[in-house]
Amino acid sequence: MRTLLLASALFAGLIGSLAAAPFPVPVPYHAFCRTLWLFARPCTELSTTMLQQIQSLNPLLGCDECQYMLVSATPRAIKANHTSLDGLQAESITFTFSPTVLTGGCRVSAQSTSLGFTSLLDDGLNYCNLYNLLSVSGLNRSPGFMEMTNEWACLGYGLATCKA
Ligand SMILES: *[C@@H]1O[C@H](CO)[C@@H](O)[C@H](O)[C@H]1NC(C)=O
Repeated sequence: MRTLLLASALFAGLIGSLAAAPFPVPVPYHAFCRTLWLFARPCTELSTTMLQQIQSLNPLLGCDECQYMLVSATPRAIKANHTSLDGLQAESITFTFSPTVLTGGCRVSAQSTSLGFTSLLDDGLNYCNLYNLLSVSGLNRSPGFMEMTNEWACLGYGLATCKA
């Protein structure tokens, strides 16, 4: 009974605070993609390869695909920025590496988020920011590679045709 009272008091409080919120609340939207990659290779190998790949695509090197700027790197996480060629769009990218103990492999959690406010359709931009690094370095062909994501976690997934 006491629990019920407590629950209804909390519920009433929730309704009260919702009622107090000014509607409609405009929610600025940052397009993003979150995806999970599994590899049958140790994390140290993967993070080294991805770090080298990002560094080789630095805009200072002047190639067409050179749009990645390293922000920080540790054995557990790599952060970078991606900027479109016209310089109008920028995204923040993070890779987190977790060893999968039983299989000796690695689970990579990857996220790309648009820094500006964008429409709901980003043509797979955020997805391709992540996936292009895999395909350029050939990691998507490495043993045991598997990708897990969906349209809810990753805008444009399933529709995107990435260049690299
Ligand atoms: C990455 O982007 C953030 C946000 O725009 C910016 O503050 C930071 O200076 C950028 N870092 C690099 C290395 O480009």
